[in-house]
Amino acid sequence: MLPTREEAEEILREGETCNPGPWGNHSRVAAHCAEKIAQACGGMDSEKAYILGLLHDIGRKFGVRHLGHVSDGYSYMMSLGYDEAAKICLTHSFHNQTTDGYIGQFDTTEEETKLIQDTLKTVVMDEYDRLIQLCDSLAGAEGVLDIEERMGDVKRRYGAYPQEKWDSNLELKKYFETRMGRDIYSVVEKDTFQP
Ligand SMILES: [Fe+2]
Repeated sequence: MLPTREEAEEILREGETCNPGPWGNHSRVAAHCAEKIAQACGGMDSEKAYILGLLHDIGRKFGVRHLGHVSDGYSYMMSLGYDEAAKICLTHSFHNQTTDGYIGQFDTTEEETKLIQDTLKTVVMDEYDRLIQLCDSLAGAEGVLDIEERMGDVKRRYGAYPQEKWDSNLELKKYFETRMGRDIYSVVEKDTFQP
């Protein structure tokens, strides 16, 4: 289950008042990219893609955390009955479906870590999980970024970026570009879109 577009926008706005920061506009840029790519692919629900993009980082509502934002977002969305959004809160951070390659700090309690790891074992990733992983890597807070520049920026900030995730992001870009038959940056209006 998912909230409506308007409900999702309200959830994000309310979340930002709890923990203001660039994550709000980052989420809006990810939502925009997801909607445009889904439209261009055909056979995908672009409204669903938008809503999932908007809520993928909603766990940030509960404060500045690394791995913790994943379990916070998952539990929050599940508490509202939005299981499809909850799934994205979880899967957007783990391309290979394990916490092994996670770039940020493991700042979760034992219980939260177990929740993340147990749920990751049972989820089946679909094209929406893959789409939001890609859009997360395209979305800056001020607009759409070049995916390799964005990954390079994360690498500088955290000191490392797993090669596997880097390659996986480029593969996802290629996959969706092939499906759309178009350059991804023109589809997501890289040079003009502002949140
Ligand atoms: Fe994100």
